[in-house]
Amino acid sequence: MIQLVRGFKDILPEEASVWQEIETTARNHFHDFGFNEIRPPVLEEAALFKRSIGELTDIVEKEMYTFAGSKGNLLTLRPEATASVVRAYIQHRLYAADPVQKLYTIGPMFRKERPQKGRYRQFYQINAEVFGIASPYMDAQLIYMVTGFFRKLDITGLRVHLNSLGCPECRARYKAELTAMLSSRVDNLCADCVRRLDKNPLRVLDCKVPACRAEVEQAPSMIDYLCGDCAAHFATVRSALSDMDVPYAIDHRLVRGLDYYTRTAFEIQTDELGAQSAVAGGGRYDGLVALLDGPPQPAVGFAIGMDRLVELVMARKPAGVVAPDLFFAAMGEAAWRKAFEWSSRLSDAGVRTEIDFSERSLKALMRRADRLGAKYVIIAGDQELANNSVNLRDMKTKEQIPVPIDSLVETVKQRIVN
Ligand code: HAM
Repeated sequence: MIQLVRGFKDILPEEASVWQEIETTARNHFHDFGFNEIRPPVLEEAALFKRSIGELTDIVEKEMYTFAGSKGNLLTLRPEATASVVRAYIQHRLYAADPVQKLYTIGPMFRKERPQKGRYRQFYQINAEVFGIASPYMDAQLIYMVTGFFRKLDITGLRVHLNSLGCPECRARYKAELTAMLSSRVDNLCADCVRRLDKNPLRVLDCKVPACRAEVEQAPSMIDYLCGDCAAHFATVRSALSDMDVPYAIDHRLVRGLDYYTRTAFEIQTDELGAQSAVAGGGRYDGLVALLDGPPQPAVGFAIGMDRLVELVMARKPAGVVAPDLFFAAMGEAAWRKAFEWSSRLSDAGVRTEIDFSERSLKALMRRADRLGAKYVIIAGDQELANNSVNLRDMKTKEQIPVPIDSLVETVKQRIVN
């Protein structure tokens, strides 16, 4: 039997209902904050991600699904959506009508990571990206928006981790200082960090190896190196979050795994998911639109990991498919013929119906209706058809009323829909 590819998964109907609820809540919530949907494709030129995420990141170095296209160009299944949304913003000149664009997108991403609980090779994100707004209030509003979204889903126990990564100028000063400090302790670092030290020293800060963590404890903090403008930006983000009563913790080690960030970086974390604690991550990326040959426009955004969010929601309430409003316990060819017509018309009218076409006893049919959680059952056999009247049973009250066949669709519709 052919099985799933490792690291990929099926979302089965019971769980899919939770995904739908999350998507609907996100769409409504983001809509109220002024966002519009954009749907970029999952396949892009490899160069888009190399340039934006950065050649020396784990994602680009080892996690992308890249293959040759028919013209010999390299194509990549997107490992994230930000680069694609930026490409679309530039390619379709969305900035020409209004540089301020608030866009969201929901869909699958692909990263060839080592699969484990909460980490998949195809996973889903809800992304929100804002272009054309440099104000720190926008950063704070996005963080407020995402925490409010989690609140709507009754998710508690989340922590906002906040840091500032500065701008290219102040970060260069910090990097030099960090590299100098870590170089003097290189013997204590893991092999990966020794390599990172040269190419991307900030990544040493979020290494999980205990020896590296111990070294990093004493490392200088980026926040102490921010230039005047970056420090002022960060101070406003912080005071705006306090104004909105959003608790947060400054996290000096939060550097994010993508190179495009400037200034604000944040993650929403939980203790409920084991090692994969980040449910959402994002930040400002003021240089990316220009880096991808667009007009210099500031930008800020985040992505929520849906797979992890679904786990949090399911830990709080059991998932399940929606029960039928009405189950037809029809017995025999003549009854099936009528019930098929009634159920089709009632479904059209907004009643969720289910019909059993198998040769079964009334007792077995009622057991199935019960198992499905049907609210009402119509019992129809030869006898009922001969009497021109079927029975409508309320499964909760057990009350049973006769319904004339001629007016069945109207009567049932009125009783169930209203
Ligand atoms: P990211 O931190 O790489 O950021 O991913 C965001 C979220 O996606 C993570 O916090 C996590 O919940 C989820 N996620 C990432 N990788 C996996 C995986 N292998 N399996 C399951 N869930 C995963 C970005 O992707 C940025 N593009 C976010 C952003 C948008 N920054 C600005 N705008």
